[in-house]
Amino acid sequence: MRFNAIATCDKGLEEICIKEINQILNKRAYFYHLGSIYLKNISEEDIFKLNFFSRTLHRIIIILKEGEFNTLEDFEKKVSEINFEEYIAYNQSFAVDAERHGEHDFTSLDIERIVGKIIIERYLTKVGNRLRVNLKNPDILIRVKVRNNHFWVGIDTTGVESLSKRNYRVYNHPAAIKTTVACCMIYLSDWNINEKLLDPMCGGGTIPIEAARMALNIPNRKKFMFENFKFFNIYKWKEFILRYESSVTDVNYNIEGYDISPKHIQGAIKNARSAGVRVKFYVADATKDSLDSDVIVFNPPYGIRMKNPRYVEKLYMKFCENLKRHYWRRVVLITASWDKFKKYLPDTKKEIECYVGNLPAKILIY
Ligand SMILES: C[S@@+](CC[C@H](N)C(=O)[O-])C[C@H]1O[C@@H](n2cnc3c(N)ncnc32)[C@H](O)[C@@H]1O
Repeated sequence: MRFNAIATCDKGLEEICIKEINQILNKRAYFYHLGSIYLKNISEEDIFKLNFFSRTLHRIIIILKEGEFNTLEDFEKKVSEINFEEYIAYNQSFAVDAERHGEHDFTSLDIERIVGKIIIERYLTKVGNRLRVNLKNPDILIRVKVRNNHFWVGIDTTGVESLSKRNYRVYNHPAAIKTTVACCMIYLSDWNINEKLLDPMCGGGTIPIEAARMALNIPNRKKFMFENFKFFNIYKWKEFILRYESSVTDVNYNIEGYDISPKHIQGAIKNARSAGVRVKFYVADATKDSLDSDVIVFNPPYGIRMKNPRYVEKLYMKFCENLKRHYWRRVVLITASWDKFKKYLPDTKKEIECYVGNLPAKILIY
């Protein structure tokens, strides 16, 4: 079976994700919308690979139907044509999750109700039994996106939990960076494992830990929703995992993390241990201590909600002065206060607009 699919990701970072997909599958992918990428004609094995190896994607959704609609009745008619019985087994539970953009006289909750009803009624007619709905922990998750008069309906291969949730965080830093954004930044730094990578303000250690996981080729996780699919060959998936496990080898790498706070460094050490990686963490002051490193990747405090906005400006100034005193080849950072940082280091090689939560931010590359 071949599929068209949507891969979702962090808004603004699609180009990096497309490159990663290309590396994993050796296939082209296309920008679809902010935060989504289109994949054409991919196989079951491609879906295994993306869920298992991608470090930048949130989820991979097989498209069951897409098109245009004029009225809600028209939408209902088109969704009723999907052979849901091919994708959901009689004893499986399901949920519908919808997102809507544009001006409509219905809500995303209405869409969820309508599509849920269509699935139940179609199943009753075609198979003769009533499917169970389980909103919290379904076996099958149907996703719907409506944008103006365009829609797609898909089946989530990843699961309720996004791939960005890596499950190793035992210490939660209050301003931890999203793992997928951290990985995009590491890719943007062009880091290779023969180079030293330093995160001089590492907090709970996300960037160094993600870099170490990349070096060791550690997958996101090993459980995905596609394991419930009656139209997937689960033996092929088991073979895939065995092939991966027999290919795992240890490698040497040089990754360091600093933070001024001993509490965060303790947390980072715990997180690295839980992730199964070796990173050298130090309590150090990034405005004074050595920044010698081939590659520096970090997210400093932004100062947006701080009582004293001058604090961040001073931190950026002192950090940049220290940076100028040391040897480094490439620097990548993300901040929502990019104008403040650029005052002290203006000559960026590239800038990428993205978001931290809903906050506009920029990745600066030197
Ligand atoms: C936005 S947080 C980093 C979060 C981290 N990337 C994570 O995922 O957990 C910024 C960190 O910079 C640290 N910091 C602030 N000033 C510093 C300095 N002068 N030297 C080193 N670290 C500093 C703070 O303690 C804080 O943990």
